[in-house]
Amino acid sequence: MNAGVDDAFNISALNAALAGTRFQDKLHFFPNIPSTNTHAMAEAESRAPDGSVYFADEQISGRGRGAHNWSSPPGSGLYVSVLLRPAIAPADALWFSLAAGLAVREAVRQVTSLECDLRWPNDLLFGSKKFCGILTELNAEATRVRHLVIGIGINVYQPQFPSELRDLATSLHIETGRDWPRQDLLAALLQGLDSEVAALTAPGNLPAATANILTRLERASTWIRGKQVYVDEMEGYAGVTEGLDARGFLLVRAADGLRTVFSGGVREQKSIR
Ligand code: BTN
Repeated sequence: MNAGVDDAFNISALNAALAGTRFQDKLHFFPNIPSTNTHAMAEAESRAPDGSVYFADEQISGRGRGAHNWSSPPGSGLYVSVLLRPAIAPADALWFSLAAGLAVREAVRQVTSLECDLRWPNDLLFGSKKFCGILTELNAEATRVRHLVIGIGINVYQPQFPSELRDLATSLHIETGRDWPRQDLLAALLQGLDSEVAALTAPGNLPAATANILTRLERASTWIRGKQVYVDEMEGYAGVTEGLDARGFLLVRAADGLRTVFSGGVREQKSIR
């Protein structure tokens, strides 16, 4: 729980900060909710519009990638899900998820002046410790996305983590020794995400937008090239990262050749046998 800043969300001020974006007048705040992603996916079935935003002070059963939980105690983090209805093929959905990571990174930089690392596809780290995760979920046919939900969880105020997480997790408070208003983070994040989505969905602009995302990721992330990683996929394998392919998937040079990571994650391997 934060002690240092007045942290009540001011929805009308937030809405004013989002004037002209796809998120204006589509903000939905919950003091607590099982999961903003689950709620957004359900609302999408009930015809909620593109740009709907669901955010909460607390999630009772926050969800992470790979069926993990996302710890979401009250007054501790930013828990937000954005519903999009882009006219894209399912194969292009990964770009939205990668762009969301860049938007979080830029929002954190604007608000705190800290530069964080990005671990493909969607973890944001300080050093080796994660402070933000992104869960992107799809409802799609083979040729088109019906809707897409990008769920973002940021550890903001946690002063510490339980011993089992201490080497793995961090928060903006731990990194800076002070508290940052979630409202400012959310406004900066949604403004940035609006620009990312606009670039990806402008008619004919997908190739340019994805090339731009690749360039920014290469600059921002230490994980994309030359990192020794272990990939927990199939029988599991080790290798060295060798960039992203033209679809945004991570390439890893393994003992048996260049492999594409589909499982959704890698972890650092200090030495390769
Ligand atoms: C990860 O495993 O790294 C992804 C974590 C995503 C957590 C966010 S919090 C808001 C949204 N609602 C959820 O239930 N999950 C996402």
